[in-house]
Amino acid sequence: MSLLAVEDVHKHFGGVRALDGAGFAIEQPGIVGLIGPNGAGKTTLFDMIAGRQFPDTGRIALAGQDATALPPHARAALGLQRSFQECRVFPEWTLRENLLFAARPRSFGSALLRAFTRREALPDQAETRADELLRLATLDAYADAPASILSFGQRRMLEIASALMTRPRWLLLDEPAAGINPGLLDALGRFLRAAHEAQGGLFLIVEHNMEFIMGLAGRIIVMHQGAVLEDGTPAAIQASSRVIEAYLG
Ligand SMILES: Nc1ncnc2c1ncn2[C@@H]1O[C@H](COP(=O)(O)OP(=O)(O)OP(=O)(O)O)[C@@H](O)[C@H]1O
Ligand SMILES: [Mg+2]
Repeated sequence: MSLLAVEDVHKHFGGVRALDGAGFAIEQPGIVGLIGPNGAGKTTLFDMIAGRQFPDTGRIALAGQDATALPPHARAALGLQRSFQECRVFPEWTLRENLLFAARPRSFGSALLRAFTRREALPDQAETRADELLRLATLDAYADAPASILSFGQRRMLEIASALMTRPRWLLLDEPAAGINPGLLDALGRFLRAAHEAQGGLFLIVEHNMEFIMGLAGRIIVMHQGAVLEDGTPAAIQASSRVIEAYLG
């Protein structure tokens, strides 16, 4: 049984074939990069795995369960989390409050939420998990400071830490390295590697920063014109003439 299976997925927008028979299977937990030139279909596929868009035809399965038509909240209930391009942190809340909020049960109305995180009614291990993630993200020194003091890159790490609070079985990251200054990129890579070692699962990462993703992922899937062009180790992908041509073309 695959952890994630994408089978012959098609999605057309008018005359544009955003996805045109995309398919791959991921059997093992790991960090997998999803790359490809602009317009290759990465975000469209990503949205389909997350349940934000649905295929015209084809199938998506999570741990053997057909998820093709499941809404996002049902995928979240199975253990799927995604991060967004724009940061979603609450600037006036402390880092710890941000993380505890992410561990809340989903059924609470928004007016109750902040009061709720201040009480003890959180899942048992939430505080421990928050501290562990703050340490892995090297943000522990700011645990009780408002998130507004963080740099853009640190906010991104906090956002990823929030997505990791529930120990997702699938974590989808959309260009986590985008806009992050070079000094913090190493810390982000170390954080993702350490977080993955600590909890396992599949981290699927769309990324344009080649150096970053090649150093982080054990496997790279290359998309081109709505389908998978190449799939292999970072070394094999970097040596592939088809991949080089697709990027140059
Ligand atoms: N909602 C939409 N309506 C029309 N065309 C769309 C829509 N979404 C995506 N497309 C088109 O589908 C193709 C694939 O887009 P997609 O955003 O998935 O590519 P991408 O690989 O994420 O590219 P980038 O690296 O630039 O983010 C592109 O030609 C895009 O213009
Ligand atoms: Mg995109």
